[in-house]
Amino acid sequence: ITRQFSCSSAVQSAIKNVTVIGGGLMGSGIAQVAAQAGQNVTLVDVNGDILAKAQKSIGNNLGRVAKKMYKDNPQEGEKFVSEAMGRIKTATDPVSGSQTADLVVEAIVENIDIKHQLFQKLDQVAPDHTIFASNTSSLSVNEIGAVVKRKDKFGGLHFFNPVPVMRLLEVVRGAETSETTYRSMMDWGKALGKTCITCKDTPGFVVNRLLVPYIAEAIRLFERGDASAEDIDIAMKLGAGYPMGPLELADYVGLDTNKFILDGWHKKYPDQQLFKPIPLLNKLVSEGKLGVKTGEGFYKYE
Ligand code: CAA
Ligand code: NAD
Repeated sequence: ITRQFSCSSAVQSAIKNVTVIGGGLMGSGIAQVAAQAGQNVTLVDVNGDILAKAQKSIGNNLGRVAKKMYKDNPQEGEKFVSEAMGRIKTATDPVSGSQTADLVVEAIVENIDIKHQLFQKLDQVAPDHTIFASNTSSLSVNEIGAVVKRKDKFGGLHFFNPVPVMRLLEVVRGAETSETTYRSMMDWGKALGKTCITCKDTPGFVVNRLLVPYIAEAIRLFERGDASAEDIDIAMKLGAGYPMGPLELADYVGLDTNKFILDGWHKKYPDQQLFKPIPLLNKLVSEGKLGVKTGEGFYKYE
């Protein structure tokens, strides 16, 4: 086993200017950790209101980090927050937002056609050296990158929710990702303070390939009436040491997202039992019970 590319020590990255496209849950977190690490960030979203919301949540989350890092020196903490915020510019146009990027990280909706439209446009306007990466949870990196000419500079950078807290980054090598691009992505991840692992372009990479069927099995177990939701979650927290139980986690990730991933994989791999549709999940989603974000999923939230 070679371990030479899986260490987490912070290193210098040749990438200094990063454009994050999509200012939602994941994009705002990615922008935050990049700015915290000293990168110049352009955060792009087609929706200006989302950008305002992202800036507010980044400010709050940086405040949490500063409180911990500068416990005894609140003035330094304030400086840390304002300097990091000062490194984040926002834009509503992906084209103008990508013209000085060394790296573009795409974190827009999980829809291959919309991702294709974006990358096709970016490929024409971004500098030749710019690396493109997708934060997709469940789509194929090769399929997303099929529309660009710079296939050697295309890969996956898969972060986890909540981005500022979760320490892992999955670095996905597509079929044509060059060694230089792969190394740049690894170095960039480490410079952000993440522990990077290398993944092939297989469904769900490592984490979601294990986590999504696990959550699905927990929903099926609950659906069969084998145990209560609370007991299933207690079981995995206390019996397996997970920070959240599977149903809590399903609500946290979003039941629509869970369904979307399962449906996409089921269509592609119809014989795989683990990816089969789950009537209870479909019912909750059709009722608009999507988990924490809508106030109700397997549990109710205030
Ligand atoms: N942003 C920034 N910081 C946050 C945060 C956020 N959104 N949420 C929590 N934190 C910080 C808190 O400030 C706190 O910091 P300290 O302990 O240093 O003070 C720390 O994280 C723990 O937070 P809490 O005490 O509020 O809550 P907790 O201990 O219950 O932890 C949790 C919350 C980190 C979310 C934890 O429950 C957890 O790890 N859950 C599992 C999350 C998980 O599995 N994520 C992966 C989902 S799958 C995915 O993302 C991939 C995909 O493609 C779908
Ligand atoms: P989100 O809905 O919170 O954010 C997506 C944002 O993209 C929205 O603000 C939307 O306005 C914007 N957008 C849509 N089309 C755009 C375009 N053409 N140009 C610019 N902005 C555009 O979604 P999210 O949960 O942040 O997920 C984003 C990506 O990250 C998806 O590919 C998802 O699979 C992946 N991901 C999600 C999670 C998770 O737990 N939610 C974890 C890891 C990876």
